[in-house]
Amino acid sequence: MNTSPSRREIRVQIESRFEFLDLVQQMAEDVCRVSGFHRNSTLNVGLAVREAVVNAIKHGNRQEAGKRVEVIFRLGSRKLVVVVRDQGVGFDPENVRNPLAASNIFRANGRGIFFMKNFVDDVVFQRLNRGGMEVRMEKKIEKRRRGRHGAGTARASEGGEVG
Ligand SMILES: Nc1ncnc2c1ncn2[C@@H]1O[C@H](COP(=O)(O)OP(=O)(O)OP(=O)(O)O)[C@@H](O)[C@H]1O
Ligand SMILES: [Mg+2]
Repeated sequence: MNTSPSRREIRVQIESRFEFLDLVQQMAEDVCRVSGFHRNSTLNVGLAVREAVVNAIKHGNRQEAGKRVEVIFRLGSRKLVVVVRDQGVGFDPENVRNPLAASNIFRANGRGIFFMKNFVDDVVFQRLNRGGMEVRMEKKIEKRRRGRHGAGTARASEGGEVG
């Protein structure tokens, strides 16, 4: 495991097709694994990235194949930052429904952002000047201890509640 403070970056660009989801999720998990994340954290980051990319393809780019989704993995010595950018019109995260509200509890969708906020330490949404939306997810690296690869626990962040 490289513990140097230098930052490493991987950039991927995909067409707006759901068939690439497994590939991006797998890539996120692989980046976590080589960075020393616990097994549970690795799976959680993979799921958060998948939800962000689904949203970018579906709500952002509206599955227009010509529009791209960019995924950037920035790996520092203490944390992983994953940025997902689309080429849509963007949205206001303040207006997103709270999936825990009684009136929403039986809805079949509306949980992706809620999951993202629970799976990583920090989620920040930003409209891009060039158009489109950027989701920035941050996860601290808790080093594996004494070979216990499954020791991590899914951690609900304080910011878990949505809008
Ligand atoms: N990249 C994006 N561009 C535009 N709108 C977005 C984007 N991401 C999310 N949204 C908006 O935020 C809403 C909530 O997203 P969220 O992922 O929580 O739920 P969902 O995608 O509607 O359903 P689910 O993820 O549970 O299948 C979406 O319905 C959409 O209106
Ligand atoms: Mg979603």
